[in-house]
Amino acid sequence: QLDQFCEDGIGFGESQCGISSRSSTKLLIKGGTVVNAHKQDNADVYVEDGIIVAVEPNIKVGDDVTVVDATGKFVMPGGIDPHTHLDMEFMGTETVDDFFSGQAAALAGGTTMHIDFVIPVNGNLMEGLEVYEKKAKKSCMDYGFHMAITKWDEVVSKEMETVVKEKGINSFKFFMAYKGSFMINDELLLEGLKKCKSLGALAMVHAENGDAVYEGQKRMIELGITGPEGHALSRPPVLEGEATSRAIRLAAFVNTPLYVVHVMSINAMEEIAKARKLGQRVIGEPILSGLLLDESGLWDPDFTNAAKYVMSPPIRASGHSKALQAALSTGVLQLIGTDNCVFNSTQKALGVDDFRYIPNGVNGMEERMHLVWDSMVESGQISVTDYVRLTSTECARIFNIYPRKGAILAGSDADIIIFNPNSSFEISASSHHSRSDINVYEGRKGKGKVEVTIAGGRVVWENDELKVIPGSGKYVKMPPFSYLFHGIDKADALYLSSLRAPVKRFKSTT
Ligand code: URP
Ligand code: ZN
Ligand code: ZN
Ligand code: ZN
Repeated sequence: QLDQFCEDGIGFGESQCGISSRSSTKLLIKGGTVVNAHKQDNADVYVEDGIIVAVEPNIKVGDDVTVVDATGKFVMPGGIDPHTHLDMEFMGTETVDDFFSGQAAALAGGTTMHIDFVIPVNGNLMEGLEVYEKKAKKSCMDYGFHMAITKWDEVVSKEMETVVKEKGINSFKFFMAYKGSFMINDELLLEGLKKCKSLGALAMVHAENGDAVYEGQKRMIELGITGPEGHALSRPPVLEGEATSRAIRLAAFVNTPLYVVHVMSINAMEEIAKARKLGQRVIGEPILSGLLLDESGLWDPDFTNAAKYVMSPPIRASGHSKALQAALSTGVLQLIGTDNCVFNSTQKALGVDDFRYIPNGVNGMEERMHLVWDSMVESGQISVTDYVRLTSTECARIFNIYPRKGAILAGSDADIIIFNPNSSFEISASSHHSRSDINVYEGRKGKGKVEVTIAGGRVVWENDELKVIPGSGKYVKMPPFSYLFHGIDKADALYLSSLRAPVKRFKSTT
């Protein structure tokens, strides 16, 4: 557990945290296979002051450079997790992992950047951003922000402009579920989509029909189903499919790109597939739990075991996860997130008498890189270059920070992992780096291991040891108008010219 290393991420210096000579600003990673999304090569990687300077075979350096041997291993861009919730207040409690402990755990698992969701304060974006800027001060790895939109008025509309143009946020999430708290209606979603389009910002949706979920929850309680299984039964895949389809159609009507977060079901995935086939710019983000788990855990007779699987949209019946993996390997879905939102067993027990009060969320930030490798690369479903694309590069492209992030190229940030495909990993709450006492992947073992993580040019994970410094992570500003917007204006112009001129009508004189 992280607390064995450091006191809550605050107030400890380098000496206490065992920072070794590896904090050198010059690094040479020697003898490995460098993997980018577009190709892999045998090459050395030379790093100075946090930036990759050269990627070439046989780089020669002086004595002042720390050399890391990567012979027989893959040298890949650190993972980028597009979807996390650290230090989030939600459902009457707060996630156990904050920007320090959650990021440290992520680094131990080979993820070197994440994008977290700013939650507005009473709908107010700037206030929400100030709160999150404070939370993130203790960061030990680079991070960016998405912004949730929970109400609509002129002030919110203006604030969206400010956060895009001045604060480096280029994406907004709209919750179509969580009735009574975050949920928005179609009218707001339409206003939001139009505003996003005008700003070159990506609209993201949590796609579940919140009104129907509310109805489904009442139905379960009336039937006397109060345990965690009621969570899955109250919000079936059809409600995810409906909302996904609705959001996609509204985005088509506005002609703006759409990003569907946490795609958990075949129903939602097929809506995305259909739209993409028609040429619509829709991105689908499955998450680790949806790719690896099935809902059976929710029926575990032990409440603590069952409650740990509660998240929204729910983890689905077996069959959905395999279909989502196949959709990733065929390009129907584009990148893998986690929706890391961690509550411990005491917090999960808030819903011991009623599943509606179990805080929604599971872990994944530390586990994603290992489990995706084991389940998809080891099984031969995807190549090593695909792995880099799905866990890092595509996220950087979508959020417009490529090739600074998501690549091992001269000029890119030195966020790098050294991955040993011949080693192995094992997951347990007793050895993970999150502060939680539970882990939805408890007992999983597999092939491959992140042996070294380099973040911002510093070795932060090596020999199963973390060497993290709070405050060393940087905020990454993400500019608007990513590749997803290229050509949108031309399509709009064609649409306008296709409209026939207004018909002149004469008033009837009878
Ligand atoms: O259960 C979940 N997914 N918790 C986090 C909030 C969200 O909807 O992403
Ligand atoms: Zn700690
Ligand atoms: Zn969500
Ligand atoms: Zn989420």
